[in-house]
Order: sequence, then structure tokens, then C-alpha cells
Amino acid sequence: MRNLRVLFCVSEVAPYAKTGGLADVAQALPVALWHLGCDVRLFMPLYRCARDSIKTFSILPAPPTISVGVHDYHVGLLETRSTSGLPLYLLEKEEFYDRSDLYGTPDFGDYEDNPERFITFSLAIRSLCMGLNWFPSILHLHDWQTGLAAAYHHFYWRHEPDFANSRTVFTIHNLAYQGVFPGKYFHLTNLPWEAFSLQGVEFWGNCNFLKAGLVYSDHLTTVSPCYGKEIQDSEHGCGLHGVLQERKDRLSGILNGIDQAVWNPGTDSCIAANYNSSRLEGKRRCKDALLAEFGFSKDRSELPLLGMISRMAVQKGFGLFLDIVDELVNLPLMLVILGAGDAEIGRMVQTVAARYPNNIRICNEFNEHLAHRIEAGADMFLMPSVYEPCGLNQMYSLRYGTIPIVHATGGLNDSVVDVQLEPHSGTGFKFYHYNADGLLDTIKAALSFFKDKGEWTALQRR
Ligand code: ADP
Ligand code: GLC
Repeated sequence: MRNLRVLFCVSEVAPYAKTGGLADVAQALPVALWHLGCDVRLFMPLYRCARDSIKTFSILPAPPTISVGVHDYHVGLLETRSTSGLPLYLLEKEEFYDRSDLYGTPDFGDYEDNPERFITFSLAIRSLCMGLNWFPSILHLHDWQTGLAAAYHHFYWRHEPDFANSRTVFTIHNLAYQGVFPGKYFHLTNLPWEAFSLQGVEFWGNCNFLKAGLVYSDHLTTVSPCYGKEIQDSEHGCGLHGVLQERKDRLSGILNGIDQAVWNPGTDSCIAANYNSSRLEGKRRCKDALLAEFGFSKDRSELPLLGMISRMAVQKGFGLFLDIVDELVNLPLMLVILGAGDAEIGRMVQTVAARYPNNIRICNEFNEHLAHRIEAGADMFLMPSVYEPCGLNQMYSLRYGTIPIVHATGGLNDSVVDVQLEPHSGTGFKFYHYNADGLLDTIKAALSFFKDKGEWTALQRR
């Protein structure tokens, strides 16, 4: 008997819709909860990419209209099964979700109607539960797109008998993305006026959807213990550290996990050869294949190959990378970068790659299979994030014997053990001072470690 009912409300779920790690967690964590005995179900918007990839679904009875400000919207609800067989519900509203991207386009930025899009999604949570006559013990909300649902639950839903026993958990995946809109949008939320206050969603005269999640949820989690502490100080708190300090007895930092079925070099069908920690030979073939794929000549295959897979965003440390690139290419090494997102950062990285074609190659797109091939084929994985709530790629790297080089922040700090400090149990390299020397010295240390094949193999196996 599964008696803890969890509704996982989230704006992206891999493999149907993904811009980053949130989608991976939304794919992996519900299954883990199911194995722990929960009745877990997922709810997400029916984006164009999701519609294209979902083959079979059934249509649930249409709920009554959803009121957003003075508008009443007709929506649809679909039901299918997630890749791991859990019930997955999708909110259909073509004019909102049937678009090329999830939140905005690289060149023109966020969609202007994002407030309406995610108010509607948040309100539809109740409609879904009513339609199913299934009421969750836990409404598990994620990031700003679902923050308002915590407010709806607090002001309205929990007073209804069906929701009386439900509680809300809000998970912060990235505090920097808050869904902040001009105060005039508040009337669209249909929340009582008292919610537009310092103790509510108001934020310097604006309406802050993430803050709704922070102040109105029963419990808060974030995706690593270190980030859980960092966001309570002004450097990482993005203006909300005071709110988080006030709720610190309700905030838990829990490190994300990875889906070991999706990210497993022993079974991964995207990579040139399979391998595992006791049989590493296949990794060499993956490197050769990756070098060929990026057009590096074969005679360079003894050089260390670094990989980067990243949203093109300031958070990911491209500024520091550009600062050191002229020295980096002389070390010597090769680097392959897979990145999509901010167009301006993409152009700058492309310019340096064009300057150093013998060392750096870039693929400026979102390519899931190539991400697997880079994890498998690279010797090291570079993640110089300015801050990182958790980070999944360094954990995929650990799984693929690809040694991570990371900034000691957030989840990077929690998931990588520095071999420079702990030679027998270390799993990667960390730098502690966020500047050019800090990063360059650590890359140099990794390169010199790489020369000792015995030590390196032991590190990979760990
Ligand atoms: P974030 O969520 O901040 O982007 P994470 O490290 O948690 O960072 O997760 C990033 C996820 O997105 C990983 O699964 C990574 O492989 C994937 N990813 C990022 N950029 C790309 C890209 N250009 N192509 C394919 N996958 C990407
Ligand atoms: C966010 C964070 C990232 C984290 C991911 C999944 O996108 O930037 O660090 O791994 O969410 O929780």
C-alpha cells in the first residue's frame, strides 16, 4: 500500500522537455521516491517538444476554466506514463505552451507572457487533483514556475476538505531565477491583497513568484547542503537571504542524485564502447571516437582532453574561462565544449574556438547524445561555475571516470573530494579562489597528475 501520495509539479521533465538539470532530477527523483514506497505522479505543461515526443496518451475530462486575472482560460489535461512508468499528467494550452522553447528564445529572451503561462500552470494543479479525485499528501513544487502554487495552497486550497491533509514542499534548484515581474502583474494571480507585502510575494515593488514558494511552503529544500548554507548569506542569497534566514529551521539541503540507468558507461548506447570501473579499456575507444567526431587529428590523442557541457550562462563560469583561455591552450591540452543558451556568450566562446582550432572545438547546440559521448570520451571535465546549487555533470563525470575540475562551491563542493587534499580518497580537483590563477593552477595540477598513468587510473576507478 503506497500511502504517501506525492504530486511532483515541475516545469520540465527529461526526456520530454529539458533546459538543464531540473529536468534530469524530475526524471530521476520521482522513481527513487516510488521505490521508497510513495505513490508519485508528475505534472508538467504540454510544450511542443513534449507533444512531439509523447506517443500515446489519454485525454482527461476538461476541467472548468482557469481564471487568471479577468480572463477565463479553457485548458486540457492529458495523461500518459513517464519513461519509468509513473503517471505523468500534462497541461494543454496551445497558445501558452506550443512554442519553440520552454521559457524564451536565445536571441529575444524570456516570453512576455511567462506570468500568465505559469500562473495558469500553478492553478491547474488543483484542477488536476479535483479531476482525478486524487489528493496528494505532499505537493512537491520546484523553482519559480510553481512557486505561486504554495501561495494558492496557503490561502485557498488547504481550507478545502480535500486538501486539508496536504502539505507543500518547495525545492530551490537555482535561487538566481526568481520569476520577477512588475507589480502590475499581481492582479493576474488572484491572490488576496495581503499577499502583496514584505511577508508575501512583493519584492521591491515587483511580484516575485519564487518568493511565494519560499514564504508559503510548509518545508523548503535545496539541492545540496553547501548551497543550503550559502543562500543564507548576501553573496549567494540573490536578495532573498533574509527570507531564507527567517525560514532556516524549515530548510534542508539534500544533495541530488543521478539516474544510474540513464548515466551508466556500462550500458550507455550513445557511446562508442561500454566500460566500467574494473574494465576501463572502452574509455580509450570513446576518447578516440570523440576526437574524430570533433575533427582533431589522431596524432594528438595522447594529449589530455577536457570536456565542458553547459548552459551558456554567466553562472557557468565562461567569464573566467575566457580570462585564462590564452594560457590554457599552451599547457597543452584539447578541449571540447557543448553549450546552448545565451547567444552572446555563445558567440564569444565560438570566437576563441576559431582562434585556437588545434586546441578548442565547440558545438553550439543542445544535444543529449553528444553530452553522453563527451562524458565518456573526455579525460577531465571542467566546471568553473561561479556558483552551483548542485550540478549534475560533475556527478555524471564521476560515474564515467572523467575527472572533474570544479570550483569549490555549492554542490560541486559537496560531491567532489579534492585529491590534492585527500590523495587516497580524492575523486577530482577543486579550486578555492575564484580567479585566473586559482583555476589555472588547478588545471596544471590535474595535468601533471594525468602523466602518472597508475595514479590516474586509480583516481578514475574511485
Ligand atoms: P544546470 O541545471 O544549472 O544547467 P546541471 O549540471 O544540474 O546544470 O545540469 C545540466 C544538464 O543539462 C545535464 O544533464 C547536462 O548534460 C545537460 N546539458 C547542458 N547543456 C547541454 C547541451 N548543450 N546539450 C545537451 N545537454 C546539455
Ligand atoms: C539548477 C542548478 C543546478 C542543479 C539543477 C538540478 O539548474 O543550476 O546546479 O544541479 O538545478 O537541481
